[in-house]
Amino acid sequence: MKKRVLSGVRATGKLHLGNYLGAVKGMMALQDDPQYETFYMVADLHTITTPYDPQELRKNRREIILDYLAAGLDPEKSIIFQQSEVPQHTELAFFFSSVTTIAKMQHLPTFKEKVKQYPEHATLALLNYPALMAADILAYKAELVPVGIDQEPHLEVAREIARRFNQDYGTDFPEPKRFKTVGEYIPSLTGEGKMSKSIEGSYINLSDNLETIKSKIAKIPTDSGKGTIHPAGKDTVYTSDAGTVSPGTGALMSFVHLFMGGDKRRELETQYETSGIRYGDVKKELSELIFAELAGFQGKRLELEANPEYVDLIIKKGNERARAAAENTIRDVKEKMGLL
Ligand code: ADP
Ligand code: TRP
Repeated sequence: MKKRVLSGVRATGKLHLGNYLGAVKGMMALQDDPQYETFYMVADLHTITTPYDPQELRKNRREIILDYLAAGLDPEKSIIFQQSEVPQHTELAFFFSSVTTIAKMQHLPTFKEKVKQYPEHATLALLNYPALMAADILAYKAELVPVGIDQEPHLEVAREIARRFNQDYGTDFPEPKRFKTVGEYIPSLTGEGKMSKSIEGSYINLSDNLETIKSKIAKIPTDSGKGTIHPAGKDTVYTSDAGTVSPGTGALMSFVHLFMGGDKRRELETQYETSGIRYGDVKKELSELIFAELAGFQGKRLELEANPEYVDLIIKKGNERARAAAENTIRDVKEKMGLL
């Protein structure tokens, strides 16, 4: 039997470059590997764990699927579906909540962040977010999960739940691992933290045109272009001659690394410590390379928008196939739990 893969994205808006490089690229690499059977969903149920608008949700859950298809997820190779259309996920999540402690969930960094963001919405659904995510993955006994590094704590919970269930009930859940991509952490354009839909000014949308990309990249807060660098490598700190540390320069260098290569980054770092960098030129070239990566996506997106019946059919078939696969797991679990 083929090994399984599952991933999902919440339906909170269109995909951005961070989602694409951190998650969708990994999804594509695995769908093209014949060793794997790939399940990719839009996590519409996770979307309702924080305040949302029903009209927006209806729209966004379709946007994510259009984005998936335009980016290159292939319905001939992957099962593409909507989480809420597969009720087995919520059923399994409830079973999983019986081995998940409140204390553990309250201490997760993702939970704390959301509570800080929405103090009036510290709900049971939010607390149960990781158990539902574990159910998404384990309903298919998926072993690999292509997601960005920020999702690692959730995967740790999924592994713990799998272990507990196997011990207590004799199930055979795998302990799912994260499938990493080179873009597992895309920085925010503001220079602070990661690129995220919920932070205005932090992201590049996959649908942005060249002008928009240029103006967003131009706004990355860089320094004078000359100074010292320490230490070399991942968490490099750039201190300009004025003595100010510029996180924006670090973010720009990460983008240079991803889109122009490690050699170009080293070349620029040498310039930073000697003659100085002219950011204008670098930013322009970088914007063009980012746009080149997205141009194919944008053409495909328009084609798909003009063909709603085709998209409906993919979703309908995907939902059916996912339900059939998840039902097998649920039956086994219920039997072992004494519910059948
Ligand atoms: P956002 O934080 O923008 O709301 P999501 O939480 O919906 O994004 O994430 C969807 C997927 O994209 C997840 O797999 C997540 O790990 C990945 N991802 C999100 N932001 C980034 C980023 N800046 N760099 C790499 N991967 C990311
Ligand atoms: N929590 C993920 C995010 O914020 C979305 C998600 C829900 C997911 N269920 C999943 C990702 C299962 C991978 C596997 O991006």
